[in-house]
Amino acid sequence: MSAAVDTCVDLGGIALRNPVLTASGTFGYGTEFAPFLDLTTIGGFVAKSLTVEPRTGNLPNRIHETPSGMLNAIGLENVGVDAFIAEKLPEIPDGVPVVASVFGTAPSEYVEVCKRLTGVPKVAGIEINASCPHVKAGGIEFGQNAELLAGLVRECRAATSLPLLVKLSPNVTRIADMARVAEAEGADGLAMINTLQALDVDLATRRPVLRNVLGGLSGPAILPVALRMVWQASQSVAIPICGIGGISTAEDAIKFLLCGATAVQVGTASYLNPMAAGEVAAGIEAWCAEQGVAAVRDLVGGLELP
Ligand SMILES: Cc1cc2nc3c(=O)[nH]c(=O)nc-3n(C[C@H](O)[C@H](O)[C@H](O)COP(=O)(O)O)c2cc1C
Repeated sequence: MSAAVDTCVDLGGIALRNPVLTASGTFGYGTEFAPFLDLTTIGGFVAKSLTVEPRTGNLPNRIHETPSGMLNAIGLENVGVDAFIAEKLPEIPDGVPVVASVFGTAPSEYVEVCKRLTGVPKVAGIEINASCPHVKAGGIEFGQNAELLAGLVRECRAATSLPLLVKLSPNVTRIADMARVAEAEGADGLAMINTLQALDVDLATRRPVLRNVLGGLSGPAILPVALRMVWQASQSVAIPICGIGGISTAEDAIKFLLCGATAVQVGTASYLNPMAAGEVAAGIEAWCAEQGVAAVRDLVGGLELP
C-alpha cells in the first residue's frame, strides 16, 4: 500500500482539498446535483455567472449536440446576485469553497456584483467571466480586447479583497497576451478556457441550429485547444491557472496539470455523467498513488518537451 497522496492545492489564495472544481454554468447553483455528487469530495464549486439583476437568457433553441461536443447560447440566465446570496448559498454544505462567477455588460455592473459578494460567508473567491460582450464597445467581448480587459480587471481588483480569478475568452489570436494583461492588473489566478465561438446548421431548414445564430462550443472537442492555450499562458505568467475545456476523465485533467494548470474545472461532462467531477478527483489521486507521485501539485508544469 503506497503512502497517501497530498491532493491539496492553492489556487491564487483559494485553498482546495483537491484540484477539481465544477465549471460555471454547468453545475447550476450546486444543489441540483446533490443526489449524485457530494460536493465535499471535490475541490470546490463555481456558480453560474451572476449579474446585478436576474436574467432570463436567450429563447430556445439554445443547446445543440455536436460531434464530441455541445453548442450553447444560454444567454447567461441567472437568479441575480442577491437571490444567490439569500437563497442558493445557504443550501451549499459547509466546507465547500464556493467561487462566484461574475459578469455584466459594463465594468460598473461587474464591480457592483463583486462588492455584494465580498465578505459573504462561503464565498472563497470570485471568477470574472470576461467572455461577455461590452455593450458600449459594440458587443466585443471584454476578453477579446487587451484594453477593455485591463480596465475590467483593474476595476474588479479595486472592488474586492477576495481572491480574484480572471476567466479568459479563447476567442483571441494570442492568449498569452491576455493572460499577461490579467496578471498585470492584479488577478490572483486565471481560469481558461471559456467556450469557443461556433456555428452549426440545420440542413432541413437551412437555418442555424441555435436561435441566437452563434453559440459557444464546449466538451471533448475543445480539449486539445484548451491544453494548448493553458500551456501558452503558463509560459507567460507566474499566477496559477485553472484549466478548463473538455475534461471528462482523470487522465484529461492530468494533461492540464502537466501543461501548467494548478487546478481544473469539469463542465459539459457533468451533463453526461453527474458524478464526473467526483470521479475525476478520485481518479487523479489514484493515478498519483500508482505513479508514486507524492503530491498532486508536483505534476504542475511537468510536461516533458521533445
Ligand atoms: C450550458 C453551458 C453554460 C455555461 N455558462 C457559463 C457561465 O455562466 N459562465 C461562464 O464563465 N462559463 C459558462 N460556461 C462555460 C464553461 O464554464 C466552460 O468554460 C466551458 O464549457 C468549457 O469547459 P467544458 O468543455 O468542460 O464544458 C457554460 C458552458 C455551458 C456548456
